Amino acid sequence: MKFPIGTVAGAMALCAQIALAADVDRTGGPYVPTPQSVVDAMLEVASVGPEDFVVDLGSGDGRIVLTAATKHKASGMGVDIDPDLVDLANASARKLGIADRVRFVQQDVFAADLSRTTVLTLYLLPGMMQSLRPKLLADLKPGTRIVSHDFTFDLWKPDRTVTVETEEKYEITGIWTSDVHLWIVPATVQGAWRITRVGEKGGGRLDIRQGFQHFKGRFSSGDRTVELKDGHLEGARLSFSVPAGNGRREMFTGTVDRDQILGEVREGEMVIARWSATRVP
Ligand SMILES: C[S@@+](CC[C@H](N)C(=O)[O-])C[C@H]1O[C@@H](n2cnc3c(N)ncnc32)[C@H](O)[C@@H]1O
Repeated sequence: MKFPIGTVAGAMALCAQIALAADVDRTGGPYVPTPQSVVDAMLEVASVGPEDFVVDLGSGDGRIVLTAATKHKASGMGVDIDPDLVDLANASARKLGIADRVRFVQQDVFAADLSRTTVLTLYLLPGMMQSLRPKLLADLKPGTRIVSHDFTFDLWKPDRTVTVETEEKYEITGIWTSDVHLWIVPATVQGAWRITRVGEKGGGRLDIRQGFQHFKGRFSSGDRTVELKDGHLEGARLSFSVPAGNGRREMFTGTVDRDQILGEVREGEMVIARWSATRVP
C-alpha cells in the first residue's frame, strides 16, 4: 500500500474503491490483497515450515495463511474484522482441504489470541502498526518472526528488509515494488543482572538498557566498570562484547530464559569461559 499520492488518507480513498461491501470499522485499513508474489516472498523471508503456526492479523481473503498451509505445510489462523472476508477465507480453506489446519475468525486484531503464533504476518496501515506493537511484544514469544508488507513499526527497526518487484501491485498503486520487513521478537533483558563465570569466584553486575533488538549497558566488577558494545538480540540469543584489559575484546553470547542467561565467552574464535546471569529483583 505505497501510493504515489503520498498520504494515508489518499491511500484509504483509493483502496476504498476496491474494498468489499461489509460495513465494518477497519481501523487497520481497507481491504487490499497482497500480490501472490509478495505473499510468497513474505513466507520465504520468515522461513515458514511445517512446524509453524502462522497468524495473519487483518487476513482479508486469507491468502497468506492459505499459502503457508498449502505450500509450506504450516498451520495457522487469520483474523479479520470483515465477516464476508472471513467466510470467503474459510470457504477457500475447505475447498483446498486444509480446514483442519487453518481457520479464520471474525475479530478485531487487538482481541486475537497470539499464544500459538510462531510467525505473524501483517499488511496494516502505519497507525495500526504502532498501536499493535505493545501487544505483539507482550504476547509473542522471543524468536517469533514478524513479517510485514510495506509498513514498519517506526522505532522498532526491521532486522531485515527485502524489496520485491511486483507487476500486480503496479496496476493498483502505480508502484512496481513491495518491501517485505522481518523482525525477530527479542527477549526482554532490560534491567540489572548478577553475572558470574562458571567455576570462578566473584562476578559482577550487568546493567542493561534495551531498545528492542539492541541494547547498551555496563559491566561492573569490583571497582572496574566498562561499557558493553554491540549488544544485540536475535530472539532469545544475546551477544555483546566488553574490553578484556589486554587491548582485545571478550565476546559474550548466550541464551535468555526469562530471568536467567547461560552462555559462553570467546576471545577471537576460542571459548575461554562459560557464564551465567540471573536477574536482580
Ligand atoms: C490491507 S488488507 C490485508 C489483507 C491480507 N492480510 C493480505 O495481505 O492480503 C487489511 C485487512 O485488515 C482488515 N482490518 C482492518 N482493520 C481491522 C481490525 N481492527 N481488526 C481486524 N481486521 C482489520 C481489513 O478488513 C482488511 O481485510
